[in-house]
Amino acid sequence: MQKERKLIIAGNWKMNKTVAEALDLVHGLKRELAAIKEVDLVVCPPFTALCEVSRQILDSNIRLGAQNMSEQNGGAYTGEISAVMLKEFSVRYVILGHSERRQHQAETDALISRKALAVHAAALKPIVCIGETLQEREAGKTEEVVGRQLRGSLAGLNKEQMQETILAYEPVWAIGTGRNATPEQAQEVHAFIRRTLTELFDSSVAKRVRIQYGGSVKPSNARDLMSQPDVDGALVGGASLETRSFSDIIKNSI
Ligand code: 13P
Repeated sequence: MQKERKLIIAGNWKMNKTVAEALDLVHGLKRELAAIKEVDLVVCPPFTALCEVSRQILDSNIRLGAQNMSEQNGGAYTGEISAVMLKEFSVRYVILGHSERRQHQAETDALISRKALAVHAAALKPIVCIGETLQEREAGKTEEVVGRQLRGSLAGLNKEQMQETILAYEPVWAIGTGRNATPEQAQEVHAFIRRTLTELFDSSVAKRVRIQYGGSVKPSNARDLMSQPDVDGALVGGASLETRSFSDIIKNSI
């Protein structure tokens, strides 16, 4: 399908896959996806598998992402991982502000914006996640919540940095539930996000930023979601954990 922006489809493996399992998956993906040029392909394994996966995808069209990063450059921050450490493994993308981290690690928009600045300072690309809960949607607050998250999480970024930032709209009620947003619901919020980017930056930045949809993306719904004008890719959780389902999502999207 003809898209205004090149699709970017990323697999967020979350806290899954030992090194052996990760290598198994990546071997399968390399085999299945070798011919794909129309989509930017990204896998985001857990930190413990980055080194080995990085070696395996060196000669492929698959790029590496991390699931989080510290806003600090180094020092006494037990349990944290810095940009330099990620760059050692040729990581290109970093997921920031996933709703699971907002919920379980109490990450705030202010922290996410500091992390986004650190990701750009290291010449990596952030994938900044935003999205409303079911309660917020049912209260008619989707735009209010998503707008606030955008203003907070992107605070301090300049236009050049924004253009190199990827956004992921992930309605919390659609994550891991099997209940995806309909293509129309996704398009409505994606269009709102693009309008907000025009207000915060300008229309040329807004036109260039890629906005992924995430939340129960699977082979059967990928095509309809990706065919929406403002949906520029997907951030896939559960269905990215198997070669067949992740490759089918990609093949069905082009
Ligand atoms: P699922 O695809 O499992 O719903 O997860 C979506 C997600 O959280 C991707 O970051």
